[in-house]
Amino acid sequence: MRVLRCIAAVALLLAAAGAVFVYSGVYDVSATDQHLFPTYWTIRATMERSVAVRARRVEVPPLDDVRVRRGVGLYREHCLRCHGAPGVAPEPFALGMTPVPENLAYVAKTWSAAEVYWTVRNGLKMTAMPAWQYRLGDDAMWDVVAFVKQLPSLSPEEYEAMRELGPPERERQPGAGDARRGRQAIQQYACVTCHAIPGVVGSQAPVGPSLARIATRGFIAGVLPNSAENMELWLIAPQDVKPGTAMPDLDMSPHDAKDIAAYLATLN
Ligand code: HEC
Ligand code: HEC
Repeated sequence: MRVLRCIAAVALLLAAAGAVFVYSGVYDVSATDQHLFPTYWTIRATMERSVAVRARRVEVPPLDDVRVRRGVGLYREHCLRCHGAPGVAPEPFALGMTPVPENLAYVAKTWSAAEVYWTVRNGLKMTAMPAWQYRLGDDAMWDVVAFVKQLPSLSPEEYEAMRELGPPERERQPGAGDARRGRQAIQQYACVTCHAIPGVVGSQAPVGPSLARIATRGFIAGVLPNSAENMELWLIAPQDVKPGTAMPDLDMSPHDAKDIAAYLATLN
C-alpha cells in the first residue's frame, strides 16, 4: 500500500512538472536554437533505430542502370532543393531547417538501400522530411533510391552530365478502397488544415465544412449526389466538379482517392 502511494505521488509530481514545463513556455522552439548534445543524440539514435528495425521487412529489387537514370530526374525534381547534390547546395530555405537535411552522399554509404527506401516512403516525423508514398509510385521511389546509392561515387561533373530517363507510369490499384489506409492518407493531403474530421488527430480548422457524418449527407459540396464514385471524383478534381470552390485540387492519385472515400464512408 505504502509503495503504491509513493508511486502515485511521484507520478503526480512528474505530471505537475510536465504541466509547468509546457505552460511556462520555457522551452525554446525556434529553429535557430540548437539542441543540447544529449537531446540531439537521443533524437538521432531513436530515428536511426526506428528506421533500421522497420527496414528489415523491406525487399530490395535489382537497382539497375535504368533505375539510376530514371532516379536522377526524380531526384532533381523532388530532393535536390533540400538535400543538394555533388557540387550543388540545397536551396536557402532548406538551410534554415532544424534538423538541417543531411548530405546524402554520406547517408548512401552508411545506410542500406532498404533503409533509404523506407525513409523515402514514410518520411520522418518531427523533421521536414516528407513521406513520398502519396507523391510517387513504388517504382519511382526505388528509382530515387537507386540514384541515391550512386551519390558517393559521383563527381560534380559526372552528376551534371547525367542524362535523365522519363519517370515510370504511376501504378493503379484495382479493387475496393481501404479505409484504414485512407485515414492515414488524409493526414498526407493536409485535409486537416481545412476540415474537422472525426478520427483524425489535429483537425479542428473550420476553413471548410466539418466532415462529421459526411456519409449521411445527400450531396457533396451541395452539387454532387453522395456516392462512392462521386466522392472520388470530388477528391481528385474539386475545381472541375465545382469551378471556383475554395477546396483546391490536391494532385491526388486515384488509388488514394478510393481509400480516402472509403474512410469518409465510415463517418455516419
Ligand atoms: C523539404 C525538404 C526535404 C525534401 C524535399 C526531402 N528531404 Fe530528405 N530529409 C529532410 C530532412 C529535414 C531530413 C532529416 C535530417 C535529419 O534527420 O537530421 C531528411 C532525411 C532524409 C534521409 C535520412 C537520412 C538522415 O541521415 O537523416 C534520407 C535518406 C532522405 N532524407 C532522402 C530524401 C530523398 C531521396 C528525397 C527526395 C525524394 C528527400 N529526402 C526529399 C528534408 C527533405
Ligand atoms: C484549403 C482548404 C481545403 C483542403 C486542404 C481540403 N478541403 Fe475539402 N473543402 C474545403 C471547402 C472550402 C469545402 C466546401 C466546398 C464547397 O462547398 O464549395 C470543402 C468540401 C469538402 C467536402 C464536401 C463537404 C460537404 O459538406 O459537402 C469533402 C467531402 C471534402 N471537402 C473532403 C476533403 C478531403 C478528404 C480533403 C483532403 C484530401 C480536403 N477536403 C482538403 C476546403 C478544403
